Amino acid sequence: MKSFRILLLASFTGLALLLNAQPAATLRPSFTLQTAHFSLAFQVGADGRLYQRAIGADDKAKSQRADEAYPQAGDGYFWEPALQAVHADGNTSTTLQYVSLIRTNEADGRELTRVLLRDPAYPFEVTLCFRTDRERDVIEQWTEIQHHESGAVTLERMASTSLLLPPHNLYLRHFSGDWAKEMNPTTELLTPGTKVLDSKTGVRAHQFGNPNFILSLDGEPQENSGRVLAGSLAWSGSFQCAFDHFGDHVRALCGVNPFASAYHLAPGETFTTPVMIWTWSANGLGDMSRKLHAWARDHGLRAGHEPRTVLLNNWEATFFNFDFNRIAGLFAPAKEIGTEIFLLDDGWFGNKYPRTNDNAGLGDWQPNRARLPDGLAPLAAQAIKRGVKFGIWIEPEMVNPKSELFEQHPDWAIVQPQRKVELQRNQLVLDLTRPAVQEFEWSIITNTLGVPGMSYVKWDCNRYLTQPGSSYLAPDRQSHLWIDYVNALYAMMERTAKTYPNIELMLCSGGGGRADYGALKYFHEFWPSDNTDPTVRVAMQWDYSYFFPVMALASHVTHWGHRPMHFACCVAMSARFGMDLDLVKLSPEDKAICAGAISAYKKIRDVTQLGDLFRLENPHQGIRGALNFVSTDRNRAAIFAFQLKDGEGKPVMPQGLDPAKKYSVHELNPAPGRAALTREAGTFTGEELMRDGLKPSCGKALEACVVELTATTN
Ligand code: GLA
Repeated sequence: MKSFRILLLASFTGLALLLNAQPAATLRPSFTLQTAHFSLAFQVGADGRLYQRAIGADDKAKSQRADEAYPQAGDGYFWEPALQAVHADGNTSTTLQYVSLIRTNEADGRELTRVLLRDPAYPFEVTLCFRTDRERDVIEQWTEIQHHESGAVTLERMASTSLLLPPHNLYLRHFSGDWAKEMNPTTELLTPGTKVLDSKTGVRAHQFGNPNFILSLDGEPQENSGRVLAGSLAWSGSFQCAFDHFGDHVRALCGVNPFASAYHLAPGETFTTPVMIWTWSANGLGDMSRKLHAWARDHGLRAGHEPRTVLLNNWEATFFNFDFNRIAGLFAPAKEIGTEIFLLDDGWFGNKYPRTNDNAGLGDWQPNRARLPDGLAPLAAQAIKRGVKFGIWIEPEMVNPKSELFEQHPDWAIVQPQRKVELQRNQLVLDLTRPAVQEFEWSIITNTLGVPGMSYVKWDCNRYLTQPGSSYLAPDRQSHLWIDYVNALYAMMERTAKTYPNIELMLCSGGGGRADYGALKYFHEFWPSDNTDPTVRVAMQWDYSYFFPVMALASHVTHWGHRPMHFACCVAMSARFGMDLDLVKLSPEDKAICAGAISAYKKIRDVTQLGDLFRLENPHQGIRGALNFVSTDRNRAAIFAFQLKDGEGKPVMPQGLDPAKKYSVHELNPAPGRAALTREAGTFTGEELMRDGLKPSCGKALEACVVELTATTN
């Protein structure tokens, strides 16, 4: 049951009267957001403004302007502001003073705190919202802005969060990349000046930059020690995270990118910023990730407590070159090796302009009559008959100029008038701010997802915005495109998730362009990268796992990099396992390895996907990568070792086991002909295993080993 507490609900005028009447120190409200191991303290100053005590700082809040909790531009604050607004009368300054605080107990351990701030000179209000997850040390933070001025107020900057940290020894780990090279970590000391991470890609957050980062308060972040804070902005559009290092402060500001995004807020409307997710640990990155993963399984993604199936995708097997029989011919071998869902990728639609390559057809979502004469339903039925579920690829937000849709509605695409149209992958983005486009895209979704037997959808987005012009939005509202697009997209994703609760959804964006909790809450998983070379994936999945549980990281076995099949299978098994192989052409040896991997995965998937992750050996640093997962009751564990370079392997040291429990040791799906694991078939206590480790059966580059530990009753 929800309980509801109002700690102080008084207009600031009333508070000021009170302050005048009694000694200020006793009256200035202060409050703390508290989780199990983290607290964030605030204090109202004598000037009525709200101040924050820097995280991890020993000093008391000094109530100097630099300490302001959500600083506003134009009235004395001259560093990077959280809010910059132009009022209806043209005044470019804002002053926010504390009004009241409301706490709501939403569920056991989850509390919502809403702090109302108001401008004394204007009917302009800002509510800072914080949802604490006590057990997980997670704080979700966002801001709501509202006013009743005589006309629109223009928001130039509107951060979701504006957290203060002490600058001493403060490190930032952030992630950059490009297509097929996503998620490369950089770790650096924050130094004076403003460090900005951002994207201006509009319809996706990630690819070159990433709205996920780590702040480490005790020098370079460590896996099992030190105070760290993970930041993750739940936004699938252009974002900005700025780390403003000035004086004895670092302010971490994150939110929608202010770049070209001025927002004209009408009187009575509310602007709600994206949610920023902060996760704290005083025990390093491992503990931080486990808490964030636990939060994500409950609140960050769909069906976070249900282990994922094994999927077979035809993309790298056929690319655009297939017909009914070619696809249907894959179902029996798919079943035979143990996969559970078949995903038909790009190329199934378009008639006047068939989608036989990436030049044409996007927008014309009618099944291609030459390839699928009777549509999708018979194919889905055939898959089900052969014992595998059926899924499909769509890219509803896009159009090829070579399509019937574009011929009929050229004004539906996002382009800049007077400019030469710039295509990416031969396509344009449809303008989702236009209601007719929203209706059209919804019809694609209902027509495709409504096909009987549909179980899975890969929702792709293969370009970003470079010419952000909308023929629907008024000339003075063009800057709304960035924000209104993403909000319209979320409305459609939410509707999809609600209308089709039993269809599994994968986010994809020309590789790993949509890897954020904004979209993920409507989806089950995302595609981290088109690069499926397992030597690359070992490191990439490690880095994504700082923020996302592995059940959300689609990982398919392919021929990228031409690595040994056993190695590729082991790497994919350590995340959300799938395959993108032509099973008709696969050698019997490789097929047997795949079948063995699938059967092994089915034995441990509840442990890898629902258990706790311990990152053991960083693949960026040594000659191998290693991980282990432990079930929450600590009765079962799965250890993965991926040898990247030759070298006599030291023992892998598992973590998180119950020291007192005895575990049997068993290698799953061992590589053909490889020496057996030492200690195989023995029984050891958790203490022994964590102290002495386990020597894996792999020692040469591109060998891998997966070991199952099971607690015995004696
Ligand atoms: C994108 C995806 C691929 C595949 C193709 C299809 O590049 O990342 O996995 O679906 O589109 O065109």
